[in-house]
Amino acid sequence: MCGIVGYIGKRKAADFLLDGLSKLEYRGYDSAGIAVVEKDGLRVEKCMGRLDALRKKLKGREPVGTVGIGHTRWATHGRPSDSNAHPHSDPTGQFVVVHNGIIENYLTLKEDMLAKGEKFSSDTDTEVAAHLFATYYHGDMEDAVHRVLRTIKGSYSLVFLCKAEPDKIICTKKDNPLVVGLGEGENYIASDIPAIINSTRKTYIMNDGEIAVVTADGVRLTDLEGKSISKKIYEVNWNAEAAEKGGFEHFMLKEIYEQPKAIRETMRGRVEDNRIVFKELDWDREFLARFNKIFIVACGTAYHAGIVGKCYIEQLAGIPVEVDIASEFRYRRPLIDENTLTVLISQSGETSDTLAALREAKRLGSHTVGVTNVVGSAVGREADQVIYTYAGPEIAVASTKAYTTQILVMLMFGIYLGNLNGRLDSVLSEDLVKGLLEVPELIHRQVEDVDQIKVFARKYGSSEDAFFLGRGLDYAVALEGALKLKEISYIHAEAYAAGELKHGTLALIVQGVPVIVLATQEDIYDKTISNIQEVKAREASVIAIGFEGDTELGKYADHVIYIPRTGKYLAPLLSVLPLQLLAYYAALTRGSDVDKPRNLAKSVTVE
Ligand code: AGP
Repeated sequence: MCGIVGYIGKRKAADFLLDGLSKLEYRGYDSAGIAVVEKDGLRVEKCMGRLDALRKKLKGREPVGTVGIGHTRWATHGRPSDSNAHPHSDPTGQFVVVHNGIIENYLTLKEDMLAKGEKFSSDTDTEVAAHLFATYYHGDMEDAVHRVLRTIKGSYSLVFLCKAEPDKIICTKKDNPLVVGLGEGENYIASDIPAIINSTRKTYIMNDGEIAVVTADGVRLTDLEGKSISKKIYEVNWNAEAAEKGGFEHFMLKEIYEQPKAIRETMRGRVEDNRIVFKELDWDREFLARFNKIFIVACGTAYHAGIVGKCYIEQLAGIPVEVDIASEFRYRRPLIDENTLTVLISQSGETSDTLAALREAKRLGSHTVGVTNVVGSAVGREADQVIYTYAGPEIAVASTKAYTTQILVMLMFGIYLGNLNGRLDSVLSEDLVKGLLEVPELIHRQVEDVDQIKVFARKYGSSEDAFFLGRGLDYAVALEGALKLKEISYIHAEAYAAGELKHGTLALIVQGVPVIVLATQEDIYDKTISNIQEVKAREASVIAIGFEGDTELGKYADHVIYIPRTGKYLAPLLSVLPLQLLAYYAALTRGSDVDKPRNLAKSVTVE
């Protein structure tokens, strides 16, 4: 995700900003920039690439001003480029902003501005905020900021700088993190504590709807109406390294906890009046009718999301779906043509096999849709159309929040297609969308209470093998649970469709082998119970995952992890959580390097 830094005091702002931004590099970014108050106005310097590219650009002509803001961008609207990098200004260059998040209504606002003849120099949503800031400024910066906030919709951390009032920086936030650091004769702003921890440990952790007017001598806090508020100073007691992980021991754990936010961001702007809208696709019934088959192609975790996607699309939209591993698809001469839709799923958008599969699908005349988390990635650029997941950068090798946003996109895509071709019952469609809106809160509830999972991880962490079973969507999630466990704990783990076990693998089930069984699919629940009995008869230790209020599972399984009750299609978004946590805590028990497991890389750009 993007990073924000601000400085006001006596030091050279540029030095502080570049140093602060470098502390946020771990978050991932594609371009960087700063804006500094100089004698003759606001000087904006920005470019695509790493901070070093910006340093090089500034070499020998560094700004000398003592007030400034900086940003590292992780593209969401518009590809990575010099012009899309932040800070963004109004056309006169007197009003500058940096922004993390998404301004949902930017297109409507931009269209109005274009109609009035305003010129834009980027594709970003943020530039709209800079234009609004300029339009609303009539001699009072605070008033202009309030008006901007009344006009925009979405999620943001925003920082404002204006030439006419060079002795202050104003910042605010909604659904995105922002902290204000307190110094002696200087003050700081940052999207995350590591950026300022070398200068101060005294901070205000900003809440939604709070505005900070920051000068060198102090910080005044107000609400959105301009009324002063008082706030407790939060004394940071972490070191810089822990601060990068936001207090979590590993990036993987941090990313597991970020899932409610990732889900919210990925849904943002795509739910209107209980319907799913994909403005980036904008298909009609006729366009969809072209396709008699859908291929979903991906690798690893993304492939598992594709298997979940197959269930959704076939059951909600009645279109046949094949799911393929990209490294197989690219060489197996798939039977596809212009009547096939090919969906490529890739967190990084740079996986070599997935990219080759995308090119092959295009060569064969298929229409391609990329589902990726990285704007400007190869999949994002080369697919005919793209649906972005907005999980934010995923740093741990083991994918967690990217997976949940991928299956979310698959579900939304299934609903979208089913609505378009009329195969999806309107009541079910509405129920699904309503249910989706509750998912972030339900995940939040789950991660609040992990003690039971820690106990199981300790109890079974020394096992050599583990099996994951499920039927239907539960089987699809079981595949991901097994992959998580093996990649970070190195326990040999396999997932099976529960009914398939007796055709061979049952021979491996012996006393004490942990078998994790997902039982969230009501229509095949009894069958799953029979499979639990099958492995219990061989004295396996069964950990079942079922809904709260289920009184049956406990009678057959050794242990039950209860997840919040929801519908069958939404269940994968919740049932994967305990599996991710189980893998994480089992890996801790075994002392493996959770964020960088042996032999694996985050992005596999070789064949
Ligand atoms: C999962 O935890 C892995 N890191 C891996 O399977 C990953 O999902 C796979 O390499 C695909 O990566 P992509 O989504 O970036 O294409």
